[in-house]
Amino acid sequence: MSDSGRQPQTDLLRLITAGSVDDGKSTLIGRLLYDADALYDDHVDALTKGARTMEGGIDFALVTDGLRAEREQGITIDVAYRYFSTPRRRFIIADAPGHEQYTRNMATAASKADLAVLLIDAKQGILTQSKRHAFICSLLGVPRLVVAVNKMDLVNFSRARFLEIERQYRDFAMRLGLKSLRFIPVCAVDGDNLLRRGERMPWYDGPCLLPYLEEIYVAGDRNLVDFRMPVQRVVRPDSTFRGYSGCIASGLLRKGDEVIALPSGFRSRIGRIAVGEAELEQALAGQSVTVCLEDELDIGRGDLLVHPGNVPKEYKELEAMAVWTGDEPLVPDAVLQLKHGTQWLKARCLKISYKVDPNTLRQEETQSLSLNEIGRIRLSLFRPVFADAYARNRALGSLLLVSTANNDTLGAAVIVDRTDYDAELKTDRALPEKREVVWHKGQVSLTERALFLRQRPLTVWFTGLSGSGKSTLAFALERRLIDAGKACYVLDGDNVRHGLNRDLGFSPKDRAENIRRIAEVAHLMNDAGLIVISAFISPFQEDRAMARGIVGPEKFIEVFLDPGLEVCEQRDPKGLYKKARSGELPGFTGVSAPYELPQAPDLALNTGGLSIEQCLRLLERIVL
Ligand code: ADX
Repeated sequence: MSDSGRQPQTDLLRLITAGSVDDGKSTLIGRLLYDADALYDDHVDALTKGARTMEGGIDFALVTDGLRAEREQGITIDVAYRYFSTPRRRFIIADAPGHEQYTRNMATAASKADLAVLLIDAKQGILTQSKRHAFICSLLGVPRLVVAVNKMDLVNFSRARFLEIERQYRDFAMRLGLKSLRFIPVCAVDGDNLLRRGERMPWYDGPCLLPYLEEIYVAGDRNLVDFRMPVQRVVRPDSTFRGYSGCIASGLLRKGDEVIALPSGFRSRIGRIAVGEAELEQALAGQSVTVCLEDELDIGRGDLLVHPGNVPKEYKELEAMAVWTGDEPLVPDAVLQLKHGTQWLKARCLKISYKVDPNTLRQEETQSLSLNEIGRIRLSLFRPVFADAYARNRALGSLLLVSTANNDTLGAAVIVDRTDYDAELKTDRALPEKREVVWHKGQVSLTERALFLRQRPLTVWFTGLSGSGKSTLAFALERRLIDAGKACYVLDGDNVRHGLNRDLGFSPKDRAENIRRIAEVAHLMNDAGLIVISAFISPFQEDRAMARGIVGPEKFIEVFLDPGLEVCEQRDPKGLYKKARSGELPGFTGVSAPYELPQAPDLALNTGGLSIEQCLRLLERIVL
């Protein structure tokens, strides 16, 4: 287990495999390791001589089944990690046991993965499991998905079947906000398209699985902006040395940096950064280090080291998306133990706001969360903790939910940072009623205006990351509609922030107010009979829901522009991603502030793949 320390882990790829029972997951991993020469010799001997061989060959599933047997001797291990390397890259495959317990273990494994390999059986096609697993991966921030369409031999290596699965699954996965999504047809048993191209699928001209995994760039995913290091151990070999060791959860630490220890708030400077015997000038997210401070402070396990200008928020209550894996359902008032970073604490579940249907990604009202269900919960903590929203920091934003009765793992949850703000929003919206303001009705009806302008007033609400094409497409659509004789107007993020919203910044609260005002303006413009096209990042689900409420659901069309973060960052039209990555622009959506995926947009457009013209055609169908 020594991937820690020594060097920044740019060449390491953490994988998780997902899929349903019998889709050939074990065989695929086994074959990959065998072909890549990544198995130990004794293991290969055992396999070839072994009792269970398949007709004319090796049963590659034994590679991982063997691993499972080892694992089953221990009680507490949920997930087994298989390390291997090729000349180009080191890999860690998290392999979770299958069957009914899979979701639980998968959630644990996914919380650290850079990429998920999802297997779909070409013959069976897409199952609910195939969607549920991808959804959990996206919830836990696994930003990349490779779909291996396996058992192509059972469908006669049919290109049409592969493309059908790709199309269906892409429709679903587009809404997960992944940075990359790739489909590879394979036959794992025979190794087709794993390391080398299979001759039986000459129509496939994409990369094979292993070369693809060797190439893919993931280092940019790391949060290098917010320095957080939970102290795991106080090291005191003798009275002259006192160090604190732990894994840097996010950010970058340099010798001489000023740090604060939380919760005490003590300040000091970093005197030394050590990894084993070696001393470093700086260390990065993912490295396990021992640091020495210039002053003697009272710091213990569970304390958090951070930079003074960038301190995480202290929570007494928090909102989280939870994957529930307990046999008994989660209900309001239940008391749970939480594992957060290196510390334990207790919490009470205050409410369950909704659950998400993994097939449609729609929200449904519920009173409880049952086995394998995913939903939004609110927790009250027995003591406050310093934490980050998961979208910003996976290590400090995730919670393990554990039974207080028998220490069983009951689920995993990711922190969504909207707690303080929810309450304010409700009071804001309640103001008019309190003040007894009444709405004056004019003499001209909506229908009269619609007849007069010969159009149905609508608000087309574009949402997506900076650089996703919102303004470009909004203005192109405006041109198109005006040319078609429709009266419309674009409300654009940057433009509105010059005037009406010039007093607002980018805190969650300001963004909500930004959206509230825009929605009110859109509502008025719709009332005047105009078609409104709005182009705002609008990163929070609740704000978009609020906008829908203000405009009126029947007039509101939510359009998610999603070329993937990678593309947005490459385009970087205003150079803002660059600034955000260097720490110059804090709280930037997609880098250091969250973007919550639309759960059920009316239209999702991959503006990385589709041309403006193609997008316009799809939009016209809805608007005209
Ligand atoms: S929203 O989040 O409140 O919906 P809005 O769409 O109005 O954002 O404004 C986004 C624009 O503001 C971006 O296109 C970008 O030019 C600029 N901007 C400046 N700082 C930030 C930031 N921290 N996060 C996102 N956008 C920012």
